[in-house]
Amino acid sequence: MDAAAWDDRYAATDLVWSTEPNVWVREICAPVAPGRALDVAAGEGRNALWLVEQGWTVTATDFSPVAVTRIREIADRRLPPDLRRRLDAVVRDATTAWPSPSPYDLVLFSYLHLPPAEWVRAVAAGIDAAAAGGAVLVVAHARRNLTEGVGGPQDATVLLDPEDVVASVAGLPVVVERAEIREREVVGAPRPALDTLAVLRRT
Ligand SMILES: C[S@@+](CC[C@H](N)C(=O)[O-])C[C@H]1O[C@@H](n2cnc3c(N)ncnc32)[C@H](O)[C@@H]1O
Repeated sequence: MDAAAWDDRYAATDLVWSTEPNVWVREICAPVAPGRALDVAAGEGRNALWLVEQGWTVTATDFSPVAVTRIREIADRRLPPDLRRRLDAVVRDATTAWPSPSPYDLVLFSYLHLPPAEWVRAVAAGIDAAAAGGAVLVVAHARRNLTEGVGGPQDATVLLDPEDVVASVAGLPVVVERAEIREREVVGAPRPALDTLAVLRRT
């Protein structure tokens, strides 16, 4: 989907995604001392808003202007002024390089699904934006969902198993700390969704 299609999707409804952060973002980030975070393809900002509430200073980005406007509107309503100042929401394509230097302690990819060549560009740009020692957290619908799980895009070429994430960062300045499948319960679904969870440490 291009930015215009995502704009249409967001414009068609009040809220596409939940207001709660992703379960794996919460699990991985809650114990970490807050710093500067970049939320790539932030959607309506559920993870970015939660990170700000945990003390992070966050740049939330998406290539959908409607999504970015929504992040700002929700932030204006939800965050007290001292926290609101810690969230910047900007329109940006994830496959382009980030302005340098922009050292983030955390770079988050939460369900950004792109054709393989675009994904490689996006993850490389995200790694480039991370400070040495910073984390790049990837949460994605696993390809295994098509046969063993539930939900997510039904196009195998944009889904990411753990091995796909590992292969996509080969040769880049990161250490793979974990790359695994996690089961996520989905209300009303006959079986859990399968998520890929990868934590990459910038060297
Ligand atoms: C499934 S939503 C995930 C939103 C959010 N990260 C979350 O977990 O709730 C995918 C988002 O990726 C954005 N997106 C897709 N391709 C993009 C690109 N090339 N650059 C920036 N954002 C993109 C879409 O606009 C959409 O908001």
